[in-house]
Amino acid sequence: ISHLLSTKYLDLDEILEIFNNAKKFLEVLNRPTKKIPILKGKLILTVFFEPSTRTRTSFEIAGKTLGADVVNLSVSQSSAKKGETIKDTCLTLNAMKPDCIVLRHSVSKIPEYITNFTSAKIINAGDGSNEHPSQALLDAFTLMQHFGDLEDRKILILGDVLNSRVARSNIWLLKKLGAKVSLCGPSTLVREEFEKEWDVDVYWDLDKAISNVDAIIVLRIQLERAASAWIPSTREYSIFYGLNRERLIKNNNVIIMHPGPMNRGLEISSDIADGSNALIRDQVTNGVAIRMSIFYHLLARKADSIGII
Ligand code: CP
Repeated sequence: ISHLLSTKYLDLDEILEIFNNAKKFLEVLNRPTKKIPILKGKLILTVFFEPSTRTRTSFEIAGKTLGADVVNLSVSQSSAKKGETIKDTCLTLNAMKPDCIVLRHSVSKIPEYITNFTSAKIINAGDGSNEHPSQALLDAFTLMQHFGDLEDRKILILGDVLNSRVARSNIWLLKKLGAKVSLCGPSTLVREEFEKEWDVDVYWDLDKAISNVDAIIVLRIQLERAASAWIPSTREYSIFYGLNRERLIKNNNVIIMHPGPMNRGLEISSDIADGSNALIRDQVTNGVAIRMSIFYHLLARKADSIGII
């Protein structure tokens, strides 16, 4: 791949190569001295038009650990605030000769659009409700770390699927890895047509949906994308679709994940989020290793073998 825009365009060999290298990078992150300068001399720009804690920070740590120079554009202080278009912003940034631009934007498909105006590799760090491929890669990697492989594993994606870029990227990726994916939420957020469109099972009854699953990826209710317009009230949502210990009594081996940030008490209770079945902190640690592996895949020369470092 020349850019990372979607999990749809990744083939199985590429996915497994990214995972195998991420395992080696996890070992590097556990060393007292973490730096391995295989991307020395490369310039990475992170450009986030929407807020982020995990994705932006972990891309920055990943790039710096690999020895690249990482520059974060502060969008709120940038000329975008004076009305500069995304095309002009990208043409301007491209003139500074970056090797890679990590972009988050509220509009779907903007990362794909800007590939027309830059010679840099583009990484989609979340575009509207379309995709968030690096999140899906770290989610699948975390599940494989736990289960070994995902062949026939039953993975439920719970919540605000309508607005979720994490859901879409995960559906494409988990199915490629052999998992059986189901969705659950109110019919306003988990629409009947998703079943045919995406070849997944759709449930509107949470107790039925969780009875037999191996893992649940809980999604954030995206109030900033007007998700509240699709639910009667947050109180009612948490009664019918909030994940709590009581609900999991019949399936207490199930693995719980959440991409973050969480609305505690709405889509997930604190006893579940902080409980022993949750892999939420592992997801964050793995996120750095996966993003190192993505940079390596896109930017390193073949001669820069990780094995010799
Ligand atoms: N999961 C995720 O994208 O988190 P941030 O918005 O904090 O980057």
